[in-house]
Amino acid sequence: MFDIEKIRRQFPILTQKVNGKPLVYLDNGATTQKPRQVIDIVNKMYSEYNSNIHRGVHYLSAKSTELYENARETVRKFINAETPEEIIFTKGTTDAINLAAFSFGEKYIKENDEIIVGLTEHHSNIVPWQMLCKRKKAKLKVIPADENGELKFEEFKKLLGKKTKLVAFAHVANSTGIINPVEKIIEETRKTEAKILIDGAQAIQHKKIDVKTLDCDFYAFSGHKIYAETGIGVLYGKKELLETMPPYQGGGDMIKSVSFEKTEYADLPLKFEAGTSNYVAAVSLAEALNFVNSTGIENIEKHESELLAYAEEKLSSINGLKIFGKSRNKTSAVSFNIKNTHFYDIGMILDKLGTAVRTGTHCAEPTMKHFGITGTVRASFAVYNTFDEIDKLYEGIIKAQKMLS
Ligand code: ALA
Repeated sequence: MFDIEKIRRQFPILTQKVNGKPLVYLDNGATTQKPRQVIDIVNKMYSEYNSNIHRGVHYLSAKSTELYENARETVRKFINAETPEEIIFTKGTTDAINLAAFSFGEKYIKENDEIIVGLTEHHSNIVPWQMLCKRKKAKLKVIPADENGELKFEEFKKLLGKKTKLVAFAHVANSTGIINPVEKIIEETRKTEAKILIDGAQAIQHKKIDVKTLDCDFYAFSGHKIYAETGIGVLYGKKELLETMPPYQGGGDMIKSVSFEKTEYADLPLKFEAGTSNYVAAVSLAEALNFVNSTGIENIEKHESELLAYAEEKLSSINGLKIFGKSRNKTSAVSFNIKNTHFYDIGMILDKLGTAVRTGTHCAEPTMKHFGITGTVRASFAVYNTFDEIDKLYEGIIKAQKMLS
């Protein structure tokens, strides 16, 4: 049974008032709020178990190491990876993509090789590849999008070739919520030698992810967008591929032995986890995944798609409101502008009414340029949002529109 009131009670932040109005939090694409069990586990980590991992023989170190490695196993199960060695803890999605770009690039990219990305990517799935291409004199190719922001699959097929070494794209575009045709892109890419990286930052919290069924080489996501703490993320990589890649950073924990003559690197996954990992946040991620598991990702997906359908229908009825990224294949976000108003003004008036949305380019400037705009208002949903909150968003927009006209 999906009991929305019971779910909401687990998120203490949701009961507060903002500007004298009950908070309506619709900026979940940027970050999600945290359930009590995640807040409690962080408290418990620092109150009872805190000690550096992989470094001590004493009780507390063993305890936090065990919790950290258990968290890795929880993540493995959640995305159905083959082994825990395929789960690399990072600071977040951006860090995960940078790790992959640097390390895969060092080993496999040379002059004139090609990397393909989608037009509608977040900057974090563009810039690391641009930096790599610059370093290696390789070429970045871009899958064009149609007027709704959907990637053009037939054009993608034309870009894919012998020189393609890697295809990187978002599972869900952050600025529009459009679900990219992941399975089709993977199937097509598999006809070549190219590897596949999926930016799952906006998908992991909304859909069941099974990396084995997907058959991607890399899958990146952040903890804070799936109800965990900030400062933790995951790079999933196929073991046989990760094993061939050099470390991203050097330091403690990523070595077997160090001498001035020869340093030997640690085995997976520690080879890619230099320095003290954010073990507390990793444990919070495992707890957040426990929350998602007990709520049921299918229930979350169903609830959020009902919210999305309701929001799109309701908002579409507003005179002068244009939704960017209209597609039947979407999840949990509505990006829009209102004729003769600026998105920042709408965002500020909504804030005065207690409603939090994101405004601006959403770190996706090429997407905005493609639509011929400088930004949008984005309302993005999570498990705890309600139909009543969408009504409040609607009423807020009508009010803002009246004030600004
Ligand atoms: N990447 C996050 C967003 O889309 C911050 O809002």
